[in-house]
Amino acid sequence: MADRTQPHSRLSRRRLLGGGAAVAGIGWGAATLTSHEQNRSDPGLDTTPFHGTHQAGIDTEPQEYATFVGFDLKPGTDREDIIGILGIWTDDAARLTQGEPALADTEPELARRPAGLTITVGFGPGLFTAAGLPDKRPSWLHALPAFPIDQLDPAYTGADLLLQIGAREATTVAHAVRVLSKDVRSLVSVRWVQRGFRNASKGRTMRNLMGQVDGTVNIAPHTVDFDQLVWDDGAAQPWLAGGTSMVLRRIAMRLDAWDEIDAEARAITLGRRDSDGAPLGGTAEFDEPDFQAVDQYGIPVIPPSSHIARAHHRHDGERFLRRGYNYDDPPAPGQISDSGLLFVACQRDIDTQFLPVQQRLAEFDALNIWTTPIGSAVFVIPPGVPGPGGYLGRQLFES
Ligand code: HEM
Repeated sequence: MADRTQPHSRLSRRRLLGGGAAVAGIGWGAATLTSHEQNRSDPGLDTTPFHGTHQAGIDTEPQEYATFVGFDLKPGTDREDIIGILGIWTDDAARLTQGEPALADTEPELARRPAGLTITVGFGPGLFTAAGLPDKRPSWLHALPAFPIDQLDPAYTGADLLLQIGAREATTVAHAVRVLSKDVRSLVSVRWVQRGFRNASKGRTMRNLMGQVDGTVNIAPHTVDFDQLVWDDGAAQPWLAGGTSMVLRRIAMRLDAWDEIDAEARAITLGRRDSDGAPLGGTAEFDEPDFQAVDQYGIPVIPPSSHIARAHHRHDGERFLRRGYNYDDPPAPGQISDSGLLFVACQRDIDTQFLPVQQRLAEFDALNIWTTPIGSAVFVIPPGVPGPGGYLGRQLFES
């Protein structure tokens, strides 16, 4: 139960963070499986380990619900304040992800259904300035260049701190968002909140709100590729070993216009069929797209202007993890929908892996007729907390 006698001040919370030897974390996959097997009858009781080399929520299979919260540090917030925030969030996350109420949790019952909860923290470029650590900022951590396709709304753009909170139940996500947000409200203000959802079918690729199978070509967790393309190796910034980066783009879909085109036109736009996600010329979702294939008239089977032809990596160093969510918010007056994709990409280096692909799509992509980026933010995702006694970002502040 929550200890309601515990004074809920920043300082008292920070004291909780005192020493303690770091212990190696166990693999997310193995531990999740154990917890899942134990709770086969009630997935609401599943837990995902919090401690480890990496933060959870990157190589974790995306849960059905995720909320992304972008915070701005209030003016005057300094290094000690930031360490305080991270200490509180570490303590909250270590408890909530394991199905335990946070300290002074006003709804402790809600914490008892962790539903695979993961809480992932990211730092925006401004945090390094506020913390007085400009030299520790990765060179690729800067706002993306302006693209001609962009119509960015400041209400969804940039932020000093990110929380990505994912779980299989929306109630769990809402509770965790509330606990973590209110615990630090004296030091930060909420810049934006973006809520997303995905299909519940475990192990299957999700569908986006255009009806497409979305996420087929991706980087499988716990592989050499994932280690080399997603997790940082500490070569440029030693403190970042085991961390990664996240690009979050809010991309609006014009579903009313998309509704007007038939299945064939949709397939030509994407380069894959909506029905089963197979590439044109192929028969099943995971068939390798053949970008060289031509029909009897010499016309490419997968149009070079299609989304997958334009997005396909030109070399291995242009690959990244995609971990997006659908959004479907209340429309503005006079509109009938406000839907789109919370496009999420994770990679070691935004400039070399993500940017060339985004630039190519901004130059031309048949899908652009129906999609518009309206929000954009970039974060470094610090490594995990190795064991009890540490706090998120300690590698940065104590290196
Ligand atoms: C609303 C916007 C978008 C939609 C609806 C969308 C949808 C899709 C779909 C359905 C696929 C094919 C299945 C798959 O492999 O996942 C795909 C592939 C892909 N998309 Fe997007 N996408 C969007 C934006 C973006 C953006 C902004 C980027 C990167 C800057 C991107 C990069 C990719 C990549 C790299 C692939 C795999 C291409 C390949 O190698 O075959 N997408 N996308």
